[in-house]
Amino acid sequence: MDKRYGDKVVMITGAASGFGALAARKFADEGARLGLSDVNGDGLAEVAGGLRAEGVEVVSDVVDVSDEAQVAAHVGRIAETFGTVHVALNNAGIGHDVAPLQFLTTGDFDRMMNVNVKGVFLGMKYQIPLMQQHGQGAILNVASAAGLVGAGHLSLYAAAKHAVVGITRAAADENATRGIRVNAICPSFSATPMVEDMADQVGGRAGLSRAQAFAHIASRVPMARVSAPEEVVQAMLWICAPENSFMTGQAIAIDGGLTAV
Ligand SMILES: NC(=O)c1ccc[n+]([C@@H]2O[C@H](COP(=O)([O-])OP(=O)(O)OC[C@H]3O[C@@H](n4cnc5c(N)ncnc54)[C@H](O)[C@@H]3O)[C@@H](O)[C@H]2O)c1
Repeated sequence: MDKRYGDKVVMITGAASGFGALAARKFADEGARLGLSDVNGDGLAEVAGGLRAEGVEVVSDVVDVSDEAQVAAHVGRIAETFGTVHVALNNAGIGHDVAPLQFLTTGDFDRMMNVNVKGVFLGMKYQIPLMQQHGQGAILNVASAAGLVGAGHLSLYAAAKHAVVGITRAAADENATRGIRVNAICPSFSATPMVEDMADQVGGRAGLSRAQAFAHIASRVPMARVSAPEEVVQAMLWICAPENSFMTGQAIAIDGGLTAV
């Protein structure tokens, strides 16, 4: 049977860990060639090396998504190697200390905007011209449920993820007649290293174990659990798939019902 992403070139940022690493594996399983990047060189080498050892074609570069020259060079290398980018998953992102706004710093603000917003902007700035040349493409920006609703104690993260939803909608509008779909995905809590760190931080303060902290987080979710990363990555594969051809400009919540109530 033909694979859904056979011969497609899929670029993934933040590919060393969490959603990005799992997405690299799943897109590869569906036949994709990959352009992978992360600021964490060791983690990236492990993910890319493992896939190459299985015969997957991978271009990998250590890239800070907030550095324009590095992003431009990486997209250029993918284009030189594979000809274009068909699918871009702008996934790299970071959180901040879980705390009321008044305890956060301008340093936190700058980090949130640089990585979570500028990173997505720069990714699209270099992906879109390539996709326009070929008259096709699918971009998926990883926002968050915190990009759709207020998220107490995560105010700067929420501000950055709302911005990701906004830039996604604008880019979708600009490219709607050019064969390029642009969407955002808005997961709630999923058991990736980022959220494990958050659970340890919040749980540690309250004297809770990681499992107890996860249970506390899950108590706010109608499905009463956090997601497995696989459940989010499967949605990513579907949103970007060629057969999902009429969806653009959307911010899709994969959140166990969190933003529905
Ligand atoms: N896990 C969740 O519950 C959850 C929920 C909503 C949204 N998200 C979003 O999903 C995305 C992936 O997060 P994750 O949960 O897999 O976390 P993660 O920490 O496991 O992975 C994030 C990856 O991004 C990389 N990264 C960080 N800063 C970077 C930079 N400046 N340049 C390049 N790479 C950088 C990290 O090295 C890491 O490999 C993020 O955008 C995050 O905000 C996660």
